[in-house]
Amino acid sequence: MRKIVVTCALLASTATFTGSGIAAGASARTENTIDVSNAAVPGKGPGSQAWTGLTKPKDVIVARQELMGHIEELMEPIDTLQVKDSDNLATLRFNGEVISAMLLALPHLFPPTTNLYDPKAEQPETLALPPIWTSFDNFYTLATAASHAATNFAEAEGKPAMKTASLALRASCDACHSLYLRPYVPPKFLDSDWNFDFDSALRRN
Ligand code: HEC
Repeated sequence: MRKIVVTCALLASTATFTGSGIAAGASARTENTIDVSNAAVPGKGPGSQAWTGLTKPKDVIVARQELMGHIEELMEPIDTLQVKDSDNLATLRFNGEVISAMLLALPHLFPPTTNLYDPKAEQPETLALPPIWTSFDNFYTLATAASHAATNFAEAEGKPAMKTASLALRASCDACHSLYLRPYVPPKFLDSDWNFDFDSALRRN
């Protein structure tokens, strides 16, 4: 706040001094630029505790995982429309609307400080893969596209159109996951599992 006051004072004195509106405008722009860049540097702007990506990256990860988990819950009845009729289309449409809003918020929960995927961990803290942060524009576009697909589903008229829109919506989830989510790896059987001596392990003493 104080900075803004200083800016105004500067602006006023420049304006008086030069007597030129253009010069005053130029000076205001310079001062503004400094303000914005300060605010854009996490930890440097006023109230830096609010840069939660910096102060609470793990909480941000939990928040996006919760969001995703609930998107999946809202998606289940929408997916089910492919195999089972529903007479509760209003609820399905509402789910679509909510998913759309959640997907708009989603990409904002990926500040670079949350690039913490550990390929060696058995249960990694995050399944979000590092390429998110080397192609963030693409990631962002996929999130926006998925949000639109959810709106399209919510607005589709009639069951056939809703079924088509639900497939498109699921495809929009998969499009992002196939690039940016750690692929599901089924548990592997090792040779030692096959050769395991169940008899002696189970034999009673
Ligand atoms: C723009 C990319 C993107 C879109 C679109 C997207 N997701 Fe995700 N999703 C992710 C990422 C990244 C994660 C991993 C988050 C983490 O672990 O930090 C994830 C995680 C998940 C998980 C948890 C997976 C697990 O194995 O724990 C579920 C479930 C999920 N998403 C469902 C959905 C559904 C349903 C949709 C579509 C309606 C969707 N997602 C759309 C990027 C996306």
